[in-house]
Amino acid sequence: MSDPQDTRFPEITRRQVLEVGTVVSVSGMMLPTSGQAQLSGPQASPENGVTVGLNFRVNSKETSLEIDARASLLDMLRERLQLVGAKKGCDHGQCGACTVHIDGRRVASCLTLAAKANGREVTTIEGIAGQDRLHPMQQAFIDHDALQCGYCTPGQIMAAIACVREGHATTPDQIREYMSGNICRCGAYVGIVAAIEQAAPQIERS
Ligand code: FES
Ligand code: FES
Repeated sequence: MSDPQDTRFPEITRRQVLEVGTVVSVSGMMLPTSGQAQLSGPQASPENGVTVGLNFRVNSKETSLEIDARASLLDMLRERLQLVGAKKGCDHGQCGACTVHIDGRRVASCLTLAAKANGREVTTIEGIAGQDRLHPMQQAFIDHDALQCGYCTPGQIMAAIACVREGHATTPDQIREYMSGNICRCGAYVGIVAAIEQAAPQIERS
């Protein structure tokens, strides 16, 4: 969901992106083979839509790239930056496998436009470990066997860190409630709650 208070990227709205996408899609279907009909605008093409230039930080690294204005943050991370830790589970905001942080707040990157990252700090599972040791939440997941296949685990860990920072990890019931957007099909929930309980005090002190 877009933040009505956010003025850092005011020039692109979801409505504008959808309008552009619709125009490009319809125009692509209507283009005659003679090619006399052209999309207007220097950056528009039926194949690529409209591109936007982004400047942001990913895991503390300054990053600039041009990307389709309709692209999701998840696709940008995985396909343009080769940061494949965040997973595409449902692609509909229902499983949490794609969870990353923007300015420290958890988001479902499959539902977040890449353009929203402009001017912001994006953190993925690849960016949370220290130089020579794991993040306390990563270590706690290992200590409590809080994973089986591991597909949901990057999203679980990113959500768990945010859950602690939000102050929503004070009891097991609260952890379960505020982690309910992250689905684990292997059913590793007991270990996940135990891991968050272990890591929470360390994260709160840091
Ligand atoms: S892939 Fe984003 S919530 Fe499922
Ligand atoms: S560990 Fe397999 S889906 Fe969670």
